[in-house]
Amino acid sequence: MVRLFILLAVITIGSSELQAKGDVEFGEYLSNMCVTCHQLSGTDNGIPSIVGWDEEAFVKTLKSYQAKERDNPVMQMITEPLTNEQMEALAAYFATIKPVEQPD
Ligand code: HEC
Repeated sequence: MVRLFILLAVITIGSSELQAKGDVEFGEYLSNMCVTCHQLSGTDNGIPSIVGWDEEAFVKTLKSYQAKERDNPVMQMITEPLTNEQMEALAAYFATIKPVEQPD
């Protein structure tokens, strides 16, 4: 019985740790509103690539648009309604995408 309790405790702690990071599936769902502009292939056609980024840097960048520290009206508008959880989910999702090698 004690063993079972310890096992359950470990599982619970483990899963709450997982949730502290962004939820990749939720991020994929949210990414619909980003990929009309940002290319999933990592191509920069005037709009910078956002795939394969470090998650922390990604969230920081979104927050700086949201706080209007970074000056871009489009991204300020996009990030305005986003919660921390949504930004972490987006960061987790886009971090899983590897940019495609670009021919020169
Ligand atoms: C209407 C087009 C558009 C949409 C939609 C859009 N972006 Fe952007 N995004 C841009 C442009 C243009 C820039 C470059 C802005 C700048 O120069 O600061 C940018 C910049 C960024 C950057 C910083 C890139 C860098 O190299 O510094 C990140 C991160 C980013 N966007 C994430 C997102 C996410 C996440 C979403 C969806 C929630 C999104 N964007 C939706 C147009 C868009």
